[in-house]
Amino acid sequence: MTQFTRAIVRPPAANFADGLTSVDLGKPDFAKALEQHARYCDALEQCGLTLTRLPADPQFPDSTFVEDTAILTPGAAILTRPGAASRAGEVAGVEPTLRQLFQRIHAIATPGTVDGGDICQIKKHFIIGVSERTNANGARQLADLLVQEGFTSAVVDIRGVSGILHLKSGSSYLGDNRVVLIDALADHPAFSGYAIVRIAPEENYAANFLRINDQLIVSAGHPKFESAVRGFGYPVIVLDMSEFQKMDGALSCLSLRF
Ligand code: GLY
Repeated sequence: MTQFTRAIVRPPAANFADGLTSVDLGKPDFAKALEQHARYCDALEQCGLTLTRLPADPQFPDSTFVEDTAILTPGAAILTRPGAASRAGEVAGVEPTLRQLFQRIHAIATPGTVDGGDICQIKKHFIIGVSERTNANGARQLADLLVQEGFTSAVVDIRGVSGILHLKSGSSYLGDNRVVLIDALADHPAFSGYAIVRIAPEENYAANFLRINDQLIVSAGHPKFESAVRGFGYPVIVLDMSEFQKMDGALSCLSLRF
């Protein structure tokens, strides 16, 4: 399992509610979002990570979702080109920090688009979701860059899967060769070599969680999933993500971990 020591985070800006969303869960409460973000940062620190805290950026209402701006490997950062026009400028806000922290910087070039939320790492292998945000050209560029960095990859087209924005809205690597998947992805051949842990359909949002070293961070309100992962023996931190869920965001979206 990848061992993480650091993460980059950015709190939501006051205009967070102006960001993109495809769900109809109401407008997020900004004060509550800030509080939930603070608890999220506490949890990452509890898992042993040192945080680089970027300032809130009201130029980009979705900029708290820093995961979408880069793919990180131990030696290199790959700058993405987010697929939503309103988010394209977010990468420039993260790049100077990544240049300080990584020896090698690569970048996805036009016409490719990649959102970090479409990239699911399983040990030395990456599953790349082609979605409304990540296009086939971006997926090919990313696969080539990952080979240069010593990683393999496979592509999963999620454009026909309803209810998920990104690949990692419906899949996450739990560790110990177990992959957690929503039903719509459970039979995909890209995941055939793993032990599949299916999410109950009413708990699909729980498919996005974080494995940080030996610890799991899961979203509150998903008792079946929580009980399943506790049953596997993982220590679990549970966080309320309600305000981020309203903006199509989940646990992994709020940090870049390395
Ligand atoms: N609100 C997150 C996104 O749509 O990218």
